[in-house]
Amino acid sequence: MITATDSRTLSELFDTEPDRVDRMSVRVGPLRADFSKQRVSADDLAQLLALAEEKDLAGWRAKLFAGEPINTSENRAVLHTALRGVGGEAVADEVTAMRARIAAFATKVRREGRFDTIVHIGIGGSDLGPRLVADAMEATGQAKPALRFANNVDGASVNDALKGLDPKRTLVIVVSKSFGTQETKMNADSVRDWLVAAGCEPSEHVLAVSANVDRAVAFGIDEANIFNFWDWVGGRYSVWSAVGLSLAIAYGPDAFGEMLDGAAAMDRHFRDTEFPANMPVLMALIGVWNRNALGYDSLAVIPYSRRLRLFSAFLQQLEMESNGKSASRDGADAGTTCPVIWGDEGTNGQHAFFQWLHQGSKGAPVDFVAVLKDHEDRPEHHRALLANCFAQSEALMLGKTESVVRAENADREDLDALAPQKTFPGNRPSTTLTLDALTPAALGSLIALYEHKVFVQGVLWDVNSFDQWGVELGKVLATTILTEMEAGESGEHDASTAALMALATSDPSLTKAKI
Ligand code: F6P
Repeated sequence: MITATDSRTLSELFDTEPDRVDRMSVRVGPLRADFSKQRVSADDLAQLLALAEEKDLAGWRAKLFAGEPINTSENRAVLHTALRGVGGEAVADEVTAMRARIAAFATKVRREGRFDTIVHIGIGGSDLGPRLVADAMEATGQAKPALRFANNVDGASVNDALKGLDPKRTLVIVVSKSFGTQETKMNADSVRDWLVAAGCEPSEHVLAVSANVDRAVAFGIDEANIFNFWDWVGGRYSVWSAVGLSLAIAYGPDAFGEMLDGAAAMDRHFRDTEFPANMPVLMALIGVWNRNALGYDSLAVIPYSRRLRLFSAFLQQLEMESNGKSASRDGADAGTTCPVIWGDEGTNGQHAFFQWLHQGSKGAPVDFVAVLKDHEDRPEHHRALLANCFAQSEALMLGKTESVVRAENADREDLDALAPQKTFPGNRPSTTLTLDALTPAALGSLIALYEHKVFVQGVLWDVNSFDQWGVELGKVLATTILTEMEAGESGEHDASTAALMALATSDPSLTKAKI
């Protein structure tokens, strides 16, 4: 097991290691990761590299790219890298054919100009990736047709998505790997009703993207309107597949292709680079260090880029649905695994939770993400944005000692009470990732970086990162409760749940039987 034995602070590590920044920074194309402000000494890193060896990371990595069924509980290969043209030679032809179909269709829709808006319906992996990418692609392009998203089963989601739209000029893309997801099917039904009510023929407006074509057909989607993908693409790893169709249409197949190429560059770096210089491997090792040796419960991801503001929400699914597990592949207790992932855009977060990061009892490591080149044509804003980002990691690391606070406030009578309150402990770890510019390629590399980090951590924690049994129980119970509420029945539940159901069904609109 790994243990923290080096008690030197971050400042002391910098003082004794003049080459620390160079040694602990890695560049891959437009992406640079500076890990130097992490509390990891050379000896700590050696321990972590030994752990990677002990867990046969190289062997697992080879299995990943070879398309071996490393999703053991579902007996599936994990080949999202093949969508970018790296690894998984056995599926390369069907991937190429699908990429060509996506590009041809996107080009046709853009040329014909029949639609002014796309409504993308999906949830989880069928929503978060496309929504993140859509925001980010606005840096260098503009959606045409415009893009709207309906995800939640809350009627507000579909209502907001449809607000002000002309059904005759709306293209609907229903995205669901399983085509069994309650939220997506309900939203798709409501949107189909909306089209029919306006006299539109659904088959001329509704497309589906799914790995379960039979179910999509049974749902009433014309087979010719279905873009398929495969069970070896996990939902949260699927934005590179036809799940990204709305992006390819809205921002053009070239931009979509550039994003895939950017991801492919990260794939090759991950596959071919020795561990001490491998960006996703180092990021994963440091994450394991923070979790298992330093005992941090969470990781904050703060993009200093409004266009990446969904990045932490995207990573919540990617990391927590992948590695939020307590059982290892062979069923043993996996011990301490994935931390809570959270965050929001900088600088907004500075005026909310940064107090806790700086002075809360333990705080959390932070991944800062910054974009060096401004796409907004407002250099003064951009300089301030970057200055804030860099200042936060410096403040977290250096802190402010009580003696400095005392000297600054020497005239205060309540100095003994005040000084500790104005003291910053410092020595709080962070990574700073910089993108040269928020291009589709840099975005692709960034997302792929975290995908591979998650894979490596899964290997180190010995969990299957590619299933998600933990989401099933709630889905089953929700179906039971919905059926009972609709029938006006109370079913068999604990007292609290029964009382909540009774409260809800006192509104007759929630009980079909009583209407
Ligand atoms: O919430 C669980 C989950 O299965 C995710 O893994 C998935 O991304 C999401 O639901 C949506 O699933 P689907 O694409 O099958 O509708």
